[in-house]
Amino acid sequence: MNNCREMIKNNKPELTKQYVIDKWSGQYGMNNLYNSSLAEAEPHIGAIVLKYATGIICEVGCGNGRVANLFPHNRYIGIDISKKAITAAKERLPGYQFEKIKYDADYPEAQTFLFYTVLVHVPDESIESVFTRVKKAGAKRIIIYEAMTRWFRQYSRHQNFHRDVCDYRGLAKQFGYNESHFYVVKSKSFPWFGNVLILDLIEKD
Ligand SMILES: C[S@@+](CC[C@H](N)C(=O)[O-])C[C@H]1O[C@@H](n2cnc3c(N)ncnc32)[C@H](O)[C@@H]1O
Repeated sequence: MNNCREMIKNNKPELTKQYVIDKWSGQYGMNNLYNSSLAEAEPHIGAIVLKYATGIICEVGCGNGRVANLFPHNRYIGIDISKKAITAAKERLPGYQFEKIKYDADYPEAQTFLFYTVLVHVPDESIESVFTRVKKAGAKRIIIYEAMTRWFRQYSRHQNFHRDVCDYRGLAKQFGYNESHFYVVKSKSFPWFGNVLILDLIEKD
């Protein structure tokens, strides 16, 4: 893995993508996922996410399903590249829809797309593809939660891809979305802080 990280630093995009797939489809991901539901662990963040989630919600990178029960089962679809995460999510919430997807697969149709500590794991060369697929799936709103500062890239224990909020603002514009809300919140599960960014599709007259 160290060797792979060295190669990533030397700009080998295909290795970066493979690194992310290996990392999350292997044991690492499941060992590091939180057990308590988001509603219990971080109710103040859950309340913000819930406030802005409209219509059918697709959570990309749903992990073991700890965010899902914020929403009614008939308005939620959870997808993840990790088979183990999806198996755990299905065991946790049998009435909910969870699907394992391939790294480059199209997303299911939904009005709201939620990325809860997920885009930090999407390498720079894949981030536009994620926005392209979100738009294609009909997203009217995108909710992103993570710590938005590139500064963390140099300190992450594993290869992560933290971005500044202005990186996401730029991407949003490129794909026809506008920032509607931005929050700085305290996070128990992450040592410093988190940000919630709400992006809305710019509706044409
Ligand atoms: C830090 S975990 C967060 C899981 C969940 N959102 C939560 O907060 O408990 C990141 C999750 O994103 C998934 N993931 C990483 N890259 C992904 C991608 N490109 N597409 C879909 N899922 C991805 C991983 O398998 C992992 O389950």
